[in-house]
Amino acid sequence: MRRARTMEAKVKKEDLFSPQGHPARPEHPEHPRRGTARDAGPLSRSPLGPYVLNRLPADLAAVTQGRSTYARLAAEQCRVLSAAGADDGPLAADPSCAPLVQLDLLFMLNGYLPAGPAAFPRPLLAALAAQCDRYPSLDPHMSYELLIDVNCAEWETTGHIRVFSDGELGRLERDFYLGHHLAEPAVRGAFDRLSSLVLEPDAVDPAAALEEALRGLDDFRRYMAQYGRLPREAFQAFRHYHMGHPGGARGASGAFMPSVQLLELALLAPTASYELYLDQSLPYFPAWSRSLVSEWRERSRGGDNVVQAVLDGRLKLDRRAAVALLGVIDTFVNFRMVHLGVTRKAIPEAFEPSTRPTRQSILAQGGERDFLGGVRPGDGRGDEPGTSGFSVHNVLTNAVHRLLTARHRLAETLGPVTD
Ligand code: HEM
Repeated sequence: MRRARTMEAKVKKEDLFSPQGHPARPEHPEHPRRGTARDAGPLSRSPLGPYVLNRLPADLAAVTQGRSTYARLAAEQCRVLSAAGADDGPLAADPSCAPLVQLDLLFMLNGYLPAGPAAFPRPLLAALAAQCDRYPSLDPHMSYELLIDVNCAEWETTGHIRVFSDGELGRLERDFYLGHHLAEPAVRGAFDRLSSLVLEPDAVDPAAALEEALRGLDDFRRYMAQYGRLPREAFQAFRHYHMGHPGGARGASGAFMPSVQLLELALLAPTASYELYLDQSLPYFPAWSRSLVSEWRERSRGGDNVVQAVLDGRLKLDRRAAVALLGVIDTFVNFRMVHLGVTRKAIPEAFEPSTRPTRQSILAQGGERDFLGGVRPGDGRGDEPGTSGFSVHNVLTNAVHRLLTARHRLAETLGPVTD
């Protein structure tokens, strides 16, 4: 644990996607540190680790560049699986290794996504099925929890991170995962402050809690801004491997980072459309968070959220606290607007080419739109699903719309609070 913190402390948000990289570069997996028993065995925690870490990215690049084929890739992976002992039962020897082995199996499986699920090799599907039978609590598909939480926790303790892309693209892909992982505590902290304001209003100084939430959220927004440095080509290169497929599970997406949705629930009541969105998303959030999201959804729907408490007069704010609350909402909107801009750069086909969504245009759309699809007649844009399978444009603009609407109502109740 101590070492994990040390590694994390070394990576600053400014280092993400920088040409110099960051100091905590992974060591070459074939040459793990010598020293303590813990250092000596990071690869042995998954018998597939050496293959996925050392060879998979180059193998996938060879297929993409026409130097190899999916059939050859499958033949090689079947040999790897046999050598690892997949013919003899589940590959993970004990529950502590099971998430990492699951991650390796799913990295191998998602490598076939550009060719479609018909290309999935049967022995790989069989190894995954055996593993899922033995460890039923693990996600059977590449989830946010496996791709970000498990993958980055492994990086923190061993310096090894799984990526699909080879070489320099792999470094950018690594930072894409790490950035999500490093950013989440900042928004989680903001949620913690707001939740204590909702749950124990008499024990908390509202202005101090809201100002602290604001600082956390501003930090979170700055992580997001770093993603403006990720070239579109790099994102497009690994995005194929995150996508869902027809009839399959939703793909891993930032949409399933729980703390952002927890913050929204502690801040304002869920709309009908957002409730549907949470229904669809809940199974894809990390397992630990599902009951917490459900709990806060229930609570927030019943009026236990900061905005509703202020509107009802249950939570009295002095001027300093009122300014901080508006600042929290504005900074949350800023995060989502930066995210929209980054997404529009990375996936331009999901947006109408000539117009950029602005706060004004989003508020003027008059309500939330169908996040499951829903091109409106005359929209003139493609209905592009994201890795989550939701409409990219509608999910992202709906999220901004809810915040702007709440801010508008709040500002009316609070009246002028700034000089
Ligand atoms: C290149 C960077 C990124 C791109 C292209 C991107 C793309 C997307 C897309 C397309 C969606 C819509 C749902 C879907 O996946 O289908 C989405 C949702 C979301 N993403 Fe990202 N994302 C990026 C980085 C991030 C980061 C760094 C975070 C958090 C630190 C994040 C948090 C979210 C959240 C919370 C949602 C749900 C909508 C909301 O509640 O605001 N994303 N993202």
